[in-house]
Amino acid sequence: MAMGETAILQYRGKNYELPVVVGTENEPAIDIRQLRAQSGLITLDDGYGNTGACESAITFIDGETGVLRYRGYPIEELAEKSNFIESAYLLIFGELPSAAQLKEFRKLLSDHEFIHEDLRHNFEGFPPNAHPMAILSAMINAVGCFQSQVVQPSDAESFTVAAARLMSKVRTIAAASYKKSIGRPMIYPRHDLYYTANFLHMMFSKPYQNYEPDPEVVRAMDLILLLHADHEQNCSTSTVRMVGSARANLWAAVAAGVCALWGPLHGGANQEVIEMLSQIHASGQSVESFIIKAKDKHSNTRLMGFGHRVYKNFDPRARIIKQACDAVLKKLGIHDPLLEIAKKLEETALRDPYFIERKLYPNVDFYSGIIMRAIGIPVNMFTVMFAIGRIPGWIAHWREVQTTPNARINRPRQVYQGAVQRSYVPIEQREWAAPQTLSSATASR
Ligand code: CMC
Repeated sequence: MAMGETAILQYRGKNYELPVVVGTENEPAIDIRQLRAQSGLITLDDGYGNTGACESAITFIDGETGVLRYRGYPIEELAEKSNFIESAYLLIFGELPSAAQLKEFRKLLSDHEFIHEDLRHNFEGFPPNAHPMAILSAMINAVGCFQSQVVQPSDAESFTVAAARLMSKVRTIAAASYKKSIGRPMIYPRHDLYYTANFLHMMFSKPYQNYEPDPEVVRAMDLILLLHADHEQNCSTSTVRMVGSARANLWAAVAAGVCALWGPLHGGANQEVIEMLSQIHASGQSVESFIIKAKDKHSNTRLMGFGHRVYKNFDPRARIIKQACDAVLKKLGIHDPLLEIAKKLEETALRDPYFIERKLYPNVDFYSGIIMRAIGIPVNMFTVMFAIGRIPGWIAHWREVQTTPNARINRPRQVYQGAVQRSYVPIEQREWAAPQTLSSATASR
């Protein structure tokens, strides 16, 4: 953290000098920590679009130029040369592993791949149509109940085991939730398979028939997980940090992150993209007329998989996924009409002044669903895939919060705009009508 410069804020005839903090990639930030104490002012930033909520050493994004790096390594290089587990190790522990460290971490992942037998019954409590993200979040908390040791974030050994345990069990839970949703028996993990292949085995093997994953399919799935592994202070990661700041345990914080990720404006967008493309395909609607609808503020329709709070340029993950999409579909000999529609939508949107002026480009979710469809992942599991990929990032951020010296609980302020103080009115003296929604809801019961 470089310091030195200051910014001056003038308010009601007084000057307030505020320190400027500069990050290692030269992004300057005004440190307002003492602002309220000195001036009585707080800052207002609905949606946190201009708020640095923390200092972090995990992931760097330059949204203006479309740069994404994990611990300094460009995402393009990791996508080409690394794999999900190695990149997860990098994110969680800060450095690429040595061969021995990677071997040890993989062994830990294998050692912890089972979930407690008693937990199998928990799956029975969910209705068949329960969304797998709901099951995932609930089951992460449930599995957490079986971990008696308290994770010591500053103790390397205890933390490494906790990280491996969570990463490993999450994929077992995810595959089991899928099996539950289709009414099939849960498949046990295979000790001889690496992380991603093992997950695909648990998804697609049957008690009487082993699924032998095609190496191309495993690589494509692994790439998807790697590209989702972290993305600095997005909604779900901020949730994990928020929950973790209250000193909540790793399992609880990650379960909360899963719930945040589920939202259609966040991780849920990958499911929404395929549903949008399928709908365009089934209805025969033209790409042009869909774009007109997506621009119309009254239509409640957005071009899903487009736009990003931080990227005002191409999302680098979208470029990589688009290329992989072409390659995987070609290799598997699949012609997917949804890919054609997606490409046409992209071309049309990128020529349209509405999208150009607002700097809306395809994001990571635009093409990822098409690869997952080709692999055979059902649409309602897409966001679960995102969650499995994001686990290392959440673990790294949870640990960063726990190990930051003098870290405080996250507790934003607000600008109150409600009623000013008034006196309680006894019910018989109240003259106003009950709110419409409440009375109509009661009436319809
Ligand atoms: N289609 C049509 N218009 C859009 C879109 C879109 N996909 N995205 C943004 N806009 C418009 C928006 O209506 C607004 O217009 P105006 O200035 O006229 O009111 C302007 O662009 C700015 O949008 P915003 O909603 O204020 O931007 P935001 O930074 O709050 O939201 C976003 C970012 C990702 C939620 C939004 O772009 C969106 O809803 N995209 C579609 C959902 C999606 O693909 N989400 C995945 C995000 S990437 C992965 C992840 O985070 O999980």
